[in-house]
Amino acid sequence: MPTLYLPPHFKFGAATSAFQIEGGWNADGKGPSIWDTFGHSPGKVKNDEPGDVACDSYHRYGDDIALMREVGLDTYRMSLSWSRLMPEGTGQVNQAGVDYYNRVIDGLLDAGVDPNVTLYHWDLPQVLEDRGGWANRDVADWFGEYATVVFDRFGDRVRRWATLNEPIAIWAGYGVGFFAPGRTDARAGRQAMHNALLAHGSGVQAFRAAGSPGEIGIVLDIWKRHPATQSARDVALAHEGDDDGFRFFLDALRGGGYSDRIRHRLQAEGTMPVIHDGDQELIEQPIDYLGLNVYSRIVVDSTKNDGSQFARTDPFPGGNFLDNGQEFYPRAVLDALNLLRDDYGWTGPVHITENGMADGPSSDSDPLQDDERIRYVSGFLEWISEAIREGHDVRSYYLWSLMDNFEWSAGFSMKFGIAALDPATLDRVPKKSALWYRDVIAAHRKTRPTAEQA
Ligand code: BGC
Repeated sequence: MPTLYLPPHFKFGAATSAFQIEGGWNADGKGPSIWDTFGHSPGKVKNDEPGDVACDSYHRYGDDIALMREVGLDTYRMSLSWSRLMPEGTGQVNQAGVDYYNRVIDGLLDAGVDPNVTLYHWDLPQVLEDRGGWANRDVADWFGEYATVVFDRFGDRVRRWATLNEPIAIWAGYGVGFFAPGRTDARAGRQAMHNALLAHGSGVQAFRAAGSPGEIGIVLDIWKRHPATQSARDVALAHEGDDDGFRFFLDALRGGGYSDRIRHRLQAEGTMPVIHDGDQELIEQPIDYLGLNVYSRIVVDSTKNDGSQFARTDPFPGGNFLDNGQEFYPRAVLDALNLLRDDYGWTGPVHITENGMADGPSSDSDPLQDDERIRYVSGFLEWISEAIREGHDVRSYYLWSLMDNFEWSAGFSMKFGIAALDPATLDRVPKKSALWYRDVIAAHRKTRPTAEQA
């Protein structure tokens, strides 16, 4: 058991997202999303396995909640499928979709698990993609309309909301093409990133207008670049990677607008997004917390790679590596929190909305014996503990993920779950890490005042 300094009000959770677990891709009036289309296009997803069924949580959400109870989670981070709720993207609301999420939310509350709901985790309705998708700035209005429906239907029971999960994924979808919708247009990609921030702003406005109790934020991922050497080229590459990966978003959300460094580069590339008067005010309106997904860092070496968001140093420059090839660098969480405070003045609440690792090849023999995941999560919890000791206001931790699920372009080949899925029955089978996490949570619960335990 790690030595932790986590205050009694600290909460433990696990995270998933709609497309990665729900399945039921065309059930009961749901419209297709860009990930349905992408997954049905040959060669886009590993082994051409789409997310049609995934973990079948559309039908088996009760099993998910039972697993959460077994582990003793305080909170569960999930997302909503826009095209399940609004098959046309705007306009008509699909009551079967509303009923589904009501069952999930009420089931969580009955189980004593607090829902933490993200409006958008990468699955844009295909009909909206057909109108230009994230590259069309109308997406901010579409998203605002969707958000209004969501807060109206679920705002009475959900207390923590996020607008977007990791908007950098929109670059992966429009600029680089290895995520849905698979476009490779850098100008459209940068515009889509800007439009995503506008949509975030519209979502926050809709939340305030609805007057729902609770709080709203956005979820960003920080994979901080560390230059392999202090050479000018390595340092420049690290800056470029940080700018593309997360500073673009943080500059606008917290820094008064895109930095000169970003503007100069994008202007030189001819990819600077079109910005209208009033955009910055919409983007930077106050939020209640920041959601931080943190998995590791990226060491960039100009002699070996181009430092782009998705590059990995190869061969590895040293350090401590997991069986899956990723560096084990749990201090990444403190580095990210320091960066938010020092560079963006953020001293408000932070929720660690995702952290976890994929099984490596050595788990093939026994996927339930995931000792490395235990070591990984322990390391991060220790550094979160250290961050809190140093004054950071970290309020919760969500392990990615509750169970093995659809890992985007990697299909089902990368497994991040603390539970496996029985391939024949889709039963959720807790791995060793789930039982260990249960004990960590139970030990922490003993530190809470009795009233809070109830
Ligand atoms: C995403 C998840 C994804 C996880 C593991 C995060 O960036 O939000 O959807 O499954 O990383 O790759």
